[in-house]
Amino acid sequence: MSRINLAVLLVVGLLLVTAKQSMQMSLRNPTAEIETSNCKLTVLRVGLVFTSDRNEKAVIDSGLFTNISYVDIAGRRFHVGTLKNTPIVYVKTGTQTVNVATAVQILLLKFHISGIVFFGNAGSLDKTYVPGTVVVPDAVAFTGVWKWEKFEAENKGQLAFGHYNYPVNGENLLGTAAYENITLYSPSEEPKEVFWLPITLTKEAATEELTKGLKLKECHSGRCQAEFEIIYGSKASTSDFYVKNEAYGDFLVKEFDASTADSASAAVALTALSNEKPFVVIQGVSNVVGVNGSYPELASHNAFLVATTFIKSFPTQRLACE
Ligand SMILES: *[C@@H]1O[C@H](CO)[C@@H](O)[C@H](O)[C@H]1NC(C)=O
Ligand SMILES: *[C@@H]1O[C@H](CO)[C@@H](O)[C@H](O)[C@H]1NC(C)=O
Ligand SMILES: *[C@@H]1O[C@H](CO)[C@@H](O)[C@H](O)[C@H]1NC(C)=O
Repeated sequence: MSRINLAVLLVVGLLLVTAKQSMQMSLRNPTAEIETSNCKLTVLRVGLVFTSDRNEKAVIDSGLFTNISYVDIAGRRFHVGTLKNTPIVYVKTGTQTVNVATAVQILLLKFHISGIVFFGNAGSLDKTYVPGTVVVPDAVAFTGVWKWEKFEAENKGQLAFGHYNYPVNGENLLGTAAYENITLYSPSEEPKEVFWLPITLTKEAATEELTKGLKLKECHSGRCQAEFEIIYGSKASTSDFYVKNEAYGDFLVKEFDASTADSASAAVALTALSNEKPFVVIQGVSNVVGVNGSYPELASHNAFLVATTFIKSFPTQRLACE
């Protein structure tokens, strides 16, 4: 087929896509595909993933998202559109790891996704971070997977409850908890037991270049301060419990060198790794464990801003020839 015909097809294809404004899409073929004699030009979308209404508000309020259509699957709405000019699908997963993993797996099965950009709020375990800081970790672990050992067991776990008796340390009937690995399944390797899940995109991409010159929102509750930092290469922890406890936060820092705690990132990482999809985790610090004050809007806003720069960096088309 000639170049001109292909161009005409492209235009017709785009018109068809835009004509479908905000209608429920066919589940069989949720993205636009243009066929040539033996090659298919497929639109690749970036999967934008977050957990909460607050995160979604940051996306909508930015005015950068253009709504084309949506698909409802398993109670989640997958919003198809563009962010600036990049084709995306976004989904609000709901909280807790099982909800997050389910939504990410559906996203990867039903759409042509080039990679996943996850952004969300997190608690900082590092007291030098202020709310509004954005953290782009290069590894995350499930730290809520425990083997709870018996009182006075021979094998002791890392977390010894007696060490935290108040006012004096001592023995405690709760014994100790040992941190467990998780099984990572993948299509090309045997299942393996891992603790840290590597966030490959952060390690590989010139991520600091990407966000250079980005200006994060600097004020919260009428108080303004110097520019917030973007911190790369830290370690993150995920569990299904919310960490408000300072002593436990300090333990996570000491034992695992974790800088943040949330309840979603590791679920995104595990699901993306199982599907061999590139992904990035972007965390806005909404509060610091053990310190008063919570700034969820600011955290979502700044994290989304960083997310937009990653979204731009993904390929948007794939030509697959027979
Ligand atoms: C997109 O449009 C649909 C249908 O009009 C609507 O249900 C959905 O909330 C819209 N999404 C956004 C992000 O505006
Ligand atoms: C977890 O897996 C790592 C390898 O990733 C291994 O070194 C470690 O011993 C395992 N820990 C447990 C508790 O099985
Ligand atoms: C934190 O807030 C609590 C009540 O909400 C208050 O009692 C406490 O003094 C505050 N701590 C600091 C360090 O401001």
